[in-house]
Amino acid sequence: MQLIRPVFLYFFAATLVLLLVPCVLAAESDSSWSFGVIADSQGRAIHITNAINAEFVRHKVDFVVQVGDLGNLQDRIASNQVLAEAGIRFYPLRGNHDSENKIEMVAQFQKAFPSIHNTPGNGGSSPDLPGVAGLTYSFTHKSGKFILLDTFPLLDWNEGEANENHKWYDGSILRKAYTVGDYLPWIEAELKKDDHRFAMVFGHKNLIGQNHKDNLFNLAHHDQTDQDAHPEMQNAFYALLQRYGVRYYLSGHDHMYNRSLIKSPDGKSEIVQIICGSAFQGFYMPKPPFSERETPISQDLKRNGFLLVRIDGERGRFEYYSTEPFGDEPKSPTWELRDSFEFSLTETL
Ligand SMILES: [Fe+2]
Repeated sequence: MQLIRPVFLYFFAATLVLLLVPCVLAAESDSSWSFGVIADSQGRAIHITNAINAEFVRHKVDFVVQVGDLGNLQDRIASNQVLAEAGIRFYPLRGNHDSENKIEMVAQFQKAFPSIHNTPGNGGSSPDLPGVAGLTYSFTHKSGKFILLDTFPLLDWNEGEANENHKWYDGSILRKAYTVGDYLPWIEAELKKDDHRFAMVFGHKNLIGQNHKDNLFNLAHHDQTDQDAHPEMQNAFYALLQRYGVRYYLSGHDHMYNRSLIKSPDGKSEIVQIICGSAFQGFYMPKPPFSERETPISQDLKRNGFLLVRIDGERGRFEYYSTEPFGDEPKSPTWELRDSFEFSLTETL
């Protein structure tokens, strides 16, 4: 009998350890996680996307956001198979090249990436507006909430709604798109929810571009270049994000990496904008006019790159990696960390 007690105790202790280790690991993985952001893989540059997807798998990110201009959707679905096999979710956003002012491209996009906003367990929603489900949407992941805004044509106009301002850049009538102003009530409702510790907002176009001067607040085509257009809408958007502690806006469109601090037109609110690099062979260069509302922080030009965002408890860290440009052929890239900075999930700017 004297031998039984120690054996029983060892067995009990070992069982306790076996039970507790998964709990500790789960707690760690819940507070320590990451996601990736890829921008502008437009055209047939799938070899660059393949290389970036391999990095996302290697870094074991939880999910990937693409801030628009995906390019050929069939190529992309095939390339993203490695993400799916690694359990990495993919959250895309349309860009101008995923729209081209053609209504049929909306259905193609939705078919390629079905049920994004209603995927069970991701806690997301879309604005209650016709045609926008799964194009503008939110989702939550662990401590974060992510809001993706689609400002590209997606509906036919009702009789008499279109006017001469609604022109695509080939001269055709620009189809109906929702503006940031249309989305404000939904954005506020999402930010009000008690389901996240921090939130970030994503769009294809920039608040203020380095090369492109068409921005998130203009109509969808490139001809509108007044970065201060619709100031009341802009001020309301910036103020809303600042009021709810949203500090980062992530975008693409410019085929470069650029981090800067942007003030609202009325100067009362500000946000950090990160243009998330390029997964395309072609690049753009910054060009004037540059806005006085923008304070540059960091820039990386003419290289292919991607962004990682790491969350560890109450701290976050952005890491931007890039390589010499791929060109038209696959190659073995050497990824370099070219920009990084840390933030607190709950600090305001
Ligand atoms: Fe674009």
